[in-house]
Amino acid sequence: MDRHTSYTYWANCLVFGPLFLVLESVGRVQGFAMGMGPNAAGEALFWQIGIAGSHRGQGHGKSLAAALIRGIRQQGGRRVLVTIAEDNLVSRRLFEGCAFACNTRLVAVGPIPCMADDIQAETLYGFDLPPEAKCSEWRV
Ligand SMILES: CC(C)(COP(=O)(O)OP(=O)(O)OC[C@H]1O[C@@H](n2cnc3c(N)ncnc32)[C@H](O)[C@@H]1OP(=O)(O)O)[C@@H](O)C(=O)NCCC(=O)NCCS
Repeated sequence: MDRHTSYTYWANCLVFGPLFLVLESVGRVQGFAMGMGPNAAGEALFWQIGIAGSHRGQGHGKSLAAALIRGIRQQGGRRVLVTIAEDNLVSRRLFEGCAFACNTRLVAVGPIPCMADDIQAETLYGFDLPPEAKCSEWRV
């Protein structure tokens, strides 16, 4: 996961506040998830999610992801986009689960364009958001 500057996180929170979520435990931040959008086509980017190592594998990633997707829907989003590095199996499984909870499948859109800097190659994936009533156990 790319680490951005504090300014970038602050700016994202300022503009897309409802799509900036943190996981707190005993007064400390142990995870976050953030998104951008939706754009005019109803597409929102699920930008980043991270859970502190000590808190992984306990369902917090799923809960945060479900909450963020609920937020995207509340902001009028109809489609979730996410980029995933090919070697990030956990992230891939997490988003496959998100799509499954929405009664749909994660579909590869294609590789992200070549960037000028040296970031890791990732693939863009997407899934549509159905009406709320059609979502399953993650209560996305
Ligand atoms: C990706 C990440 C946010 C998942 O958070 P988490 O709290 O550990 O995930 P959860 O416990 O909620 O599990 C969610 C799903 O991820 C998958 N998963 C979790 N741990 C896994 C593991 N060790 N191996 C394979 N899949 C795993 C499972 O599909 C799981 O769903 P399931 O329990 O219904 O099978 C966390 O691993 C992380 O912060 N990774 C580093 C940052 C990163 O790569 N972020 C994604 C790109 S921005």
